[in-house]
Amino acid sequence: MNQMQAERLQKILSEAGITSRRKAEKLILQGRVTVNGKVVSELGTKAVLGKDDICVDGKAIKAETEKVVVALFKPKSCVTTLHDPQGRPTVADLVKSIPVRVYPVGRLDYDAEGLLLMTNDGELAHRLQHPRYKVPKTYLVKIRGRPLEEALGRLQQGVELEDGITAPAELQILEDDKKATWLTLTLREGRNHQVKRMCAAVGCPVLRLRRTKIGPIDLGNLQPGRIRKLKAREVRVLRKAVGLDG
Ligand code: URA
Repeated sequence: MNQMQAERLQKILSEAGITSRRKAEKLILQGRVTVNGKVVSELGTKAVLGKDDICVDGKAIKAETEKVVVALFKPKSCVTTLHDPQGRPTVADLVKSIPVRVYPVGRLDYDAEGLLLMTNDGELAHRLQHPRYKVPKTYLVKIRGRPLEEALGRLQQGVELEDGITAPAELQILEDDKKATWLTLTLREGRNHQVKRMCAAVGCPVLRLRRTKIGPIDLGNLQPGRIRKLKAREVRVLRKAVGLDG
């Protein structure tokens, strides 16, 4: 519904999920609906949801804001905030075409790139970040040198960091030579700079970092700086992964 357009009251009530249009007409005729404090009992009356104060039995009707989840390929040299006091490019610049305000789910470092979800669904965002829900996040990582077996084992089993030992992680080596190694690392917790700190702790500093997957959502062939709105089916799977909607 266009929230700033005058609509018949019965249409507003039915589209806000209060009741059917026919039953909404009855409510109006029964004098149970008020607009800006005045009882309205004529069926043709129009109001603007989001501007007028519309109540049924004294209870305010709220405009239902569509819940949106956006997948973004955060490029390097871009901050994961909506505003940067230092004036650097932010992810807000990349989601300007989305008509509702969406917030970043967690963060990616300024020099890291890859999949970032942005949403106006607060509960979903909270659960995707909370360690309790153990949402797997996969990173494509380039590290300096070729790690020894012992270092790889520590990355998988747990590395001692200043904020405690890390949870078990999945690791796969993709390519290595003497100078650098490409690997994927899947973590189920989301501490600050976790990949960089883990790799540094085993003597292999991170040279490049790209997040490729969050739970069931893959970066796919999204290009740097581009966004795509998740399909309803994808949102359902994502919500289910964090225990929402059954
Ligand atoms: N781990 C890091 O070190 N940095 C990120 O941006 C994400 C995970």
